[in-house]
Amino acid sequence: GSSTIYRSSTTAPVNIAVIKYWGKRDTALNLPTNSSLSVTLSQKSLRTHTTASCSESYSGPDSLILNGDKEDIQSSKRTQACLKHLRSLRQQLEAKDTSLPKLSKLTLRLVSANNFPTAAGLASSAAGFAALVRAIADLYELPQSPQELSLIARQGSGSACRSLMGGYVAWRAGTKEDGSDSLAEEVASVSHWPQMRALILVVSAEKKGVPSTAGMQTTVETSTLSPARFKDIVPKRMQDIEKAIQERDFETFARITMQDSNSFHAICLDSWPPIHYLNDVSRAAMNAVETANRKAGKLIAAYTFDAGPNAVIYYLEENAHKVAGVIKNILPWTSGWEGEFGEAIPPNEFGS
Ligand code: PMV
Repeated sequence: GSSTIYRSSTTAPVNIAVIKYWGKRDTALNLPTNSSLSVTLSQKSLRTHTTASCSESYSGPDSLILNGDKEDIQSSKRTQACLKHLRSLRQQLEAKDTSLPKLSKLTLRLVSANNFPTAAGLASSAAGFAALVRAIADLYELPQSPQELSLIARQGSGSACRSLMGGYVAWRAGTKEDGSDSLAEEVASVSHWPQMRALILVVSAEKKGVPSTAGMQTTVETSTLSPARFKDIVPKRMQDIEKAIQERDFETFARITMQDSNSFHAICLDSWPPIHYLNDVSRAAMNAVETANRKAGKLIAAYTFDAGPNAVIYYLEENAHKVAGVIKNILPWTSGWEGEFGEAIPPNEFGS
């Protein structure tokens, strides 16, 4: 009947890149200047939960409530692009099988919540758009694979395409103008290298200074160093880090992870006006990782930073105590911290 409410809920994990996406060759489609690679983190610690529903009894435009607040999705081109794409796939199903309810014609209501501070610069948009796309795809009973859905999530937020898969995930930049080959691909599953851990140090829970889209444009247009990064440096690192993952070679993985984070922040600083995401506490975290590595006589930990000052530190489970020990020493509790330490979280297989 007309009061039927169709509903579907899902959760999506956060991913943290070790080869960074920073630069768009097409801003409308979110096509990147370079490929990137990330580790998907456990949903036990960080995740977005989203419920999508539709009904003939709903009226008005589609809506999204995020952490209890109504979001303006009508003026969000990115969200609209995702909804349009998902609706058209549902329409194709309805055209093929006329007995299906015409869900594509109904108002959508989305309710989404993060179990971590949205403003903390912890890649909330990645989990957010991945969960949004997944929830609607489930509601519409779409047959598309996670890889096909990654194309849609990419249009919401570039990094979101990597949150549709678990383990070690590459986002292939692609070369096509329509973006049909710019999608995520699982490079290795969690079970291939399950000892990987990530420690998140919340240096500041404040909203990031320069939003990623604006920052990327400034970098693409003004950084003198970025052309070399896009053309030669990142393609080589993608190859090398994929090999390191295949061979479970943590030292190479760690070196490339730190080099690529520094390369990303270097092109930010080389932009005009310059973009600063790291602060003194971030630099203290880098110093702590370097100290842990020096003490161990080999690389046992790797730092990486996104568009904000928070540190993510990758290490293997067997070195958990050594890494935590040094970090506690160098970065003791201060009241300015959001939390003393992030939780150690293993990577997660999607859906588990
Ligand atoms: O997906 P966006 O537009 O929020 O950009 C993410 C950019 C970085 O987090 C800095 C790097 C990355 O690859 O995730």
